[in-house]
Order: sequence, then C-alpha cells, then structure tokens
Amino acid sequence: MARILIVGASGLLGINLAMEAMREHKVIGVDRGKLKSAPFQVLEIDLLHRNMIRSVIDATRPEWLINCAALANLEQCEEYPDQARILNAEIPGDLANICTKRNIRFVHISTDAVFDGTKAGTYTEEDEPSPPGIYSQTKLDGERAVEQVNPQAIIARVNFYGWSLGGRRSLAEFFVKNLDEGKNVNGFTDIIFCPMWVNHLNRILIEMLEKNLSGLYHVVGAQVMSKYQFGVEVARTFGLREDLISPKSVLSSGLTAKRSHNLWLSTHKLSTDLRHEIPSVSTGLAEFYTQFQQGYPQKIRSYQQ
Ligand SMILES: NC(=O)c1ccc[n+]([C@@H]2O[C@H](COP(=O)([O-])OP(=O)(O)OC[C@H]3O[C@@H](n4cnc5c(N)ncnc54)[C@H](OP(=O)(O)O)[C@@H]3O)[C@@H](O)[C@H]2O)c1
Repeated sequence: MARILIVGASGLLGINLAMEAMREHKVIGVDRGKLKSAPFQVLEIDLLHRNMIRSVIDATRPEWLINCAALANLEQCEEYPDQARILNAEIPGDLANICTKRNIRFVHISTDAVFDGTKAGTYTEEDEPSPPGIYSQTKLDGERAVEQVNPQAIIARVNFYGWSLGGRRSLAEFFVKNLDEGKNVNGFTDIIFCPMWVNHLNRILIEMLEKNLSGLYHVVGAQVMSKYQFGVEVARTFGLREDLISPKSVLSSGLTAKRSHNLWLSTHKLSTDLRHEIPSVSTGLAEFYTQFQQGYPQKIRSYQQ
C-alpha cells in the first residue's frame, strides 16, 4: 500500500483516480474547497499560493504524487494566459522539483493536444510537438519543466472520459445528458482522437508506478475515431438516439481556441512496457454504462457542495 497525494482531486481525472486508488492505497486529495464529504482525506489549498503545497507535501509525506490539476479549458487558457502558464507549466515544475528533493515518485498529466494534428497517421513519443494554442503550449512547457528537474517522473499524455463532479466535464457526459433529454447535438467529424475510460487510465497510471516506469508515455485509448463516431458509440451503449447527433465540422462550432484535427497517438510504447494490450473502447464504454446503472454519477456528485 502506497501513500498517494492527488493534486486536483476534484477534477474529472482527480476524483475518479482517488476513488479507484483508495481501494488499495492510502489517498490524500488536494483541492480548493469543492470536495466536502469525499470518502478520502482532502486538504484544501489554492495552488496559486505557491508555497502552500510544499508544507502539504511535508505534512503528508506521500510516496507517490500525481498532479491532475490544470487550467484545462482551452477557451479559458486563451483568455487568461498568465494563469494557464502558472498552473500548466510553472506549478508542475515546482511539484516535480519538490518530489525530486524528497524522493517522491511523481506523475504529471499532460495532453494529446501538444500536437497540431498536421501529420498523417499516428503520433509517437518521438514526434516533435507543435502546440496550436495557449493550452497546449503551456502543457508542453509543463512537460519540459518537469523533465528538467525530475527525469524519473512519469509524464502521461492523456485523453479520457468519465463521470465528473459537475456532470458536464467530459464529452461522453455531454452526449449522454443531451441525448437523454432528446436534444439535438453536433458531433465533430474532423477531429479524430483516442478516448480512454478514466478508470482504465487510473489503473494504468497505478500500474506504471508499480512497475517503476519513468519518462514520457502516450496513455490514450487503443482505437482512433472521430468525436462524431464517439457520440454514436456512446448513444448505442446507452440505448439512446444516435440520429440526434449531427455530423459537423469543428470549424462551424464557434469555439474560439484552435484545435488539432488529428489526436491519434500511438500506445505502442505503453503496451510494450506494460506487457499487455490497452483495453478497447467498447470495454471502456460498457463499464462507463455499468457505472451509470449503479448510480456512480450521483454518488460522486454528492461529494461536492
Ligand atoms: N479531460 C480530458 O480528456 C483531458 C484531455 C487531455 C489532457 N487532460 C489533462 O488531464 C488533467 C486532468 O484534466 P481534467 O479533465 O480532470 O481537468 P478538470 O476537471 O478541469 O480538473 C482540474 C483540476 O485542477 C484544479 N485546479 C485548477 N486550478 C486550481 C488552483 N488554482 N488551485 C487548486 N486546484 C486547482 C481544479 O480544481 P476545481 O475543481 O476547484 O476547479 C480541478 O481539481 C489535466 O492536466 C488536463 O490538462 C485532460
């Protein structure tokens, strides 16, 4: 059993990771006040008060620290570039440095969006990133800040879906909620990506720590599809109407931040080093649906106030 500090424990990844990890490990979450009755210990700090995290780490003495905190909304990053730089680039560097000095294994969560999507085919860890906007640029700067001070860190470029505290953070939740209410929605046909169920991501991150992996990894789903196709898969899994999803171009969406059209990342390095296959999209969606049937979305929402 390891003592794990999860920074950003109220986020889509953080809450699901904490719930998964607490089955076998001692979990301490860090958030800025959203979590009120979570079934694991929670410490409240605003990461923008840069010195406070050091005292939290010294007080809790984790063996593993997983940084899930970020400014992860692309439009907000364009609007508040300074905040994006601090949260996505500078704070990860601070955390990585503190962990190096205290011999704590550090995992930093990055993004598939570091690539501009102009390559035909898959992106490997060897491909040179070319971030298209403030979010992706600051996330790439975060990777580099971490690598520089903590070469043993795991840096995971991810893309995932799951149930969130607010009920609207992930693309899968968007489709379920709107289709369930009988609403028409758009699905982008010109963005391809590799979605992974958040619990598969959680299990893989823990396995990577247990197997003592380090360095940069693409930790995304094993299959590539358009966001439209993903919506259709979600609708079919939940028995909802797929004809309510209109195939559209992201260029007609009104979203202001520039987005990459190809987020097809290779998981070859990951599956080779883990010595097993990455779970399929259909397995992830089936489990996501089982969580829904078992009332998991309501359960995690009850942890916030
Ligand atoms: N979702 C995806 O598919 C996806 C794709 C690619 C990469 N990623 C990366 O995966 C990671 C997790 O993403 P997510 O979707 O879970 O993001 P999220 O739901 O927006 O969660 C972000 C977390 O950071 C916390 N945070 C933000 N500013 C903070 C501050 N000043 N002090 C303390 N905590 C602060 C948030 O707290 P509050 O709840 O209080 O705001 C929240 O817990 C991020 O690194 C993101 O870049 C996500």
